[in-house]
Amino acid sequence: MNEAKFKPNPDTHQLESGNYTWQSPSNIALVKYWGKKENQIPANPSISFTLSNCFTKTTLEFSKKEKKSEGNYSFEVFLDGDLKPDFAPKIETFFKRVEAYLPFLKDFHFTIKTHNSFPHSSGIASSASGMSALALCLMSMEKAMNPSISEEHFNEKASFLARLGSGSACRSIEGPLVSWGEHKAIANSSNLIGTKYTGEIHESFQEYQDTILLVDVGEKKVSSTVGHGLMNGHPFAERRFSQAHENIDKLKEIFISGNLEAFISVVESEALTLHAMMMTSQPYFLLMKPNTLAIIEKIWAFRKETGHNLCFTLDAGANVHLLYPKAEKEEVLQFIKNELVAFCKEGRYICDEIGFGAYLVDS
Ligand code: DP6
Repeated sequence: MNEAKFKPNPDTHQLESGNYTWQSPSNIALVKYWGKKENQIPANPSISFTLSNCFTKTTLEFSKKEKKSEGNYSFEVFLDGDLKPDFAPKIETFFKRVEAYLPFLKDFHFTIKTHNSFPHSSGIASSASGMSALALCLMSMEKAMNPSISEEHFNEKASFLARLGSGSACRSIEGPLVSWGEHKAIANSSNLIGTKYTGEIHESFQEYQDTILLVDVGEKKVSSTVGHGLMNGHPFAERRFSQAHENIDKLKEIFISGNLEAFISVVESEALTLHAMMMTSQPYFLLMKPNTLAIIEKIWAFRKETGHNLCFTLDAGANVHLLYPKAEKEEVLQFIKNELVAFCKEGRYICDEIGFGAYLVDS
């Protein structure tokens, strides 16, 4: 696959004004994307569970301008009804990156109205759900101009565009498991798009649960983008990138066998390796908080004591994602209430589970 596939065909239909609304979920990586090359190409393959309850709903309103803009793009962004000028630079960068594939961007004025199901102050990154929702709205416009686009091409290009907004966003179009980045054992894997994982998946992973324990709800001190950059010249980078390939090989086997002990070992190691990379970057930094570690210790103790198959993963922040099979939900939720809530900011946590991707809400 190469980028040329995503250059648009000449329009067959005119579009004047209208709106599209897409709801797109967040995702949680099991094998982490950490490190990238030019043009949002990942340094290693990653694989994630698509989530369900943590999502962004975005309405893109568009109206054709009398004359194509010469300089800037013409848009405004609202979050829950409030104008958000501070979101503009990220969207401007996204538009610049995707314009070669969506040449109509400067023909329209856009109003972007967005809502996150999770509170802005939860420390949950909205870039994956937000960028994928916006990419899908833009694809709906392209489809209106080129109705012959197939569903497969629509999803592939939406993922391609979302990646240019935020790498992990390319894994939010479909579900329940999506890989991104070339890997020898995953047919159709690509550095350009996220692809739905089509290998065998054991029933233990059906409806897998993710309870997000909110430890620190503030703005992150170091953004993911800066963290990715610090993998350039990182002393352990090459070994880490190979390890991600190896861990995907292991997960492939685990998805077939349903061996939850092996699953836990890969997933927790990935989470700690991600943070180890941060701690050994130059400059080094820490995103875990004392309560992150306290929760991890509690999870290990509870697992040892009860044999329940819960494990943690982390993204680029202090919050803990607690992953466990649906069959163990009752006991794990009780454990959260009894022992983990005390370490959560204001006792807050969000219950989520594996989901099936984005969908068009309205048009
Ligand atoms: C730790 O996708 O947020 O969550 O491409 O710079 O926008 P940019 O980074 P982003 O990085 C996510 C990193 C991660 C791991 C993962 O989701 O795979």
